[in-house]
Amino acid sequence: MNDIESLTKEQAAEELKRIAEEMAKADIAYYQNDDPYLSDAEYDALKRRNELLEKKFPELKIENGPSVRIGAAVRSEFGKVKHKIPMLSLGDIFSEEELSDFTASVNRFLGYETDNMITYSAEPKIDGLSFSARYENGSFVRGATRGDGATGEDITENLRVIKDLPQKIEGKDVPEILEVRGEVYMSKRDFLELNRQYETEGKKAFANPRNAAAGSLRQLDANITKERKLSLFVYTWGDVSEIVWKSQSEFLEKVRGWGFKTNPYNRICHTTRDLSDYFEYLLKERANLAYDIDGIVYKVDSLELQQRLGFLTRTPRWAIAHKFPAEQAFTKINDIRIQVGRTGALTPVADLEPVNVGGVIVSHATLHNEDEIKRKDIRIGDTVVIQRAGDVIPQIVEAVKDKRPPESKEYEFPQTCPMCGAHAIREEDEAVRRCTGGLTCPAQAIERLKHFVSREAFDIEGLGAKIMEEFYNEGIIRNPVDIFTLERRNQKLRDDLFAALDDGGIYLENREGWGKKSVENLFRAINGRRDISLPRFIYALGIRQVGTATSRLIAKNYGSFEHFRDDMVHGRTEKLLEIDGIGEAMVNDIAGFFAEEHNLRTVNELLEQVKVEDFVDDTDYNSPIAGKTVVFTGTLERLTRAEAKAKALSLGAKVAGSVSKNTDYVIVGADAGSKAKKAQELGITVLNENEFLELAGQSV
Ligand code: IVH
Repeated sequence: MNDIESLTKEQAAEELKRIAEEMAKADIAYYQNDDPYLSDAEYDALKRRNELLEKKFPELKIENGPSVRIGAAVRSEFGKVKHKIPMLSLGDIFSEEELSDFTASVNRFLGYETDNMITYSAEPKIDGLSFSARYENGSFVRGATRGDGATGEDITENLRVIKDLPQKIEGKDVPEILEVRGEVYMSKRDFLELNRQYETEGKKAFANPRNAAAGSLRQLDANITKERKLSLFVYTWGDVSEIVWKSQSEFLEKVRGWGFKTNPYNRICHTTRDLSDYFEYLLKERANLAYDIDGIVYKVDSLELQQRLGFLTRTPRWAIAHKFPAEQAFTKINDIRIQVGRTGALTPVADLEPVNVGGVIVSHATLHNEDEIKRKDIRIGDTVVIQRAGDVIPQIVEAVKDKRPPESKEYEFPQTCPMCGAHAIREEDEAVRRCTGGLTCPAQAIERLKHFVSREAFDIEGLGAKIMEEFYNEGIIRNPVDIFTLERRNQKLRDDLFAALDDGGIYLENREGWGKKSVENLFRAINGRRDISLPRFIYALGIRQVGTATSRLIAKNYGSFEHFRDDMVHGRTEKLLEIDGIGEAMVNDIAGFFAEEHNLRTVNELLEQVKVEDFVDDTDYNSPIAGKTVVFTGTLERLTRAEAKAKALSLGAKVAGSVSKNTDYVIVGADAGSKAKKAQELGITVLNENEFLELAGQSV
């Protein structure tokens, strides 16, 4: 190796090219074949040499070269990428019976009597995030998410830092234009590790590896993506200049040869029986896999047959996803704890012996309410079946009665609040028992404060759950008004302490872990919220049953807070009752809220601190879902539930909580449960998230 100082430009260019090639090859060996041929030290030496050369000859820096891959550019926002070939989804099946129906319909369509003439490619359905990666003349040029299938987000820089994706591909028959598509995922191990790290940093953990992968991939700063360990598998293609394969299996073989990762569990099957055997096999193998899979995809292997079969509206007729049932595990209930919520509801929570349910460690589960415990006869010390149906919150399916310890006793639900000792009562027709302590109950007070500053309410950054608890317990913030007087009180405390030449006080700047900067930021966040929209303000009050949708309805019908408050204070509830979507029970709760002296006082004091804007109606009454009733269920991917609801409302739709014959659309996210089923039974139009967004006129 020549000393850099004495290199000519040509020599340097040549060396840079050689290093780039060498490192790309080494990456394939290391990350894709698990068979490195360079030692770490040798690899690092190449990297260093590359850096030095680039520093001396910046104009020679290779596009997509090793340094780009390491220090990826920071993006300010995601651009959009239109998919030349749309990224479609698959139909779902959940049973052997449906599997037989699927293969039978394929046979029928093709005019075959039996199915042993058709070859299928059966592939694990990776539970990650689909991507599309475009190569031109062998170089990776663009990466995109699926988005709505027609347009995705530009995640080129993010994909670039995933080591499983080659930057350059070689091979004699690589098409000039090649879009490979597949799934980005995070391994169970890396997910647990990331969450552990998050926990120590006091950040909110990801619910599952899929969320963690999605969150990590869709980072505006690709450096963050790079820090997270993401992997990927390729399983299909998009725009291709020349299709040089005749079947799905041949495609997989080809791309593997070009340096892409394909799933080692992909199998060829010939009959329905083969397919169901493979399903049983993978179902058992699932727990041993390093990553989450949520089912199996069966694809008719031959491209010619695929073309004959064609597509239904948005799913191919030649492929189907056979989903796994919810994941279950056994564990023991160590204790039953009672949580007290914002409205005083006592919620029993089971503390579990930590158990791995499909890659996620579960250590508690909600027991919903006292009737549920009774009905299932769940007791402390029981061995129970836990189920994680993709939802964030695990459920207890049942107690294993023959493993019950002989001394076990039926669980007795407390009749007093465990937090404040006040009576806990159950109203007629109510499933929940509630603490009667109101704001004298610290649990309720803290939960109300947390609600007040939460995202859909005042949305005050810097006042997270933990800080709020600390401030409450130390008497710094006891009610919402205190938030807005905090700066003044802090200033005074500081001035007084300085005046007394005592620097040891606990004004905020002096708190452990705080400093001038963080205090400034907190006050900036608080002051930035002194102007607030009417729906947010109403929601922030935390009136029982009044969620974001109801708050918006009230705002829309009253226009200003004064108007609403005056009616409530004078007991005029007729107008409220007339609002479609607000029932008598809710009106009672709202009126009850204003009838309480301390609530009214808080509201009035708050109004001295903040300005509530009058409602501006920006509803789109001409949207295709205006006037329709929609229900959301399952975990949405691109919107939070609150965003989805807000979107529907702004499009003039009504959002309902349960499916009935009056429902027009049910929008299902991942792992939707009974509501999706009910919708099907009632023949209601079911949309997935992307279809909903499309309907809403949004194609991100
Ligand atoms: S094929 C037209 N194969 O499942 C068919 N999809 O709803 C395109 N997925 O969006 C998809 N593993 O995110 C295919 N081996 C696999 C897959 C797979 C996971 C995901 C993908 C797709 C969804 C189907």
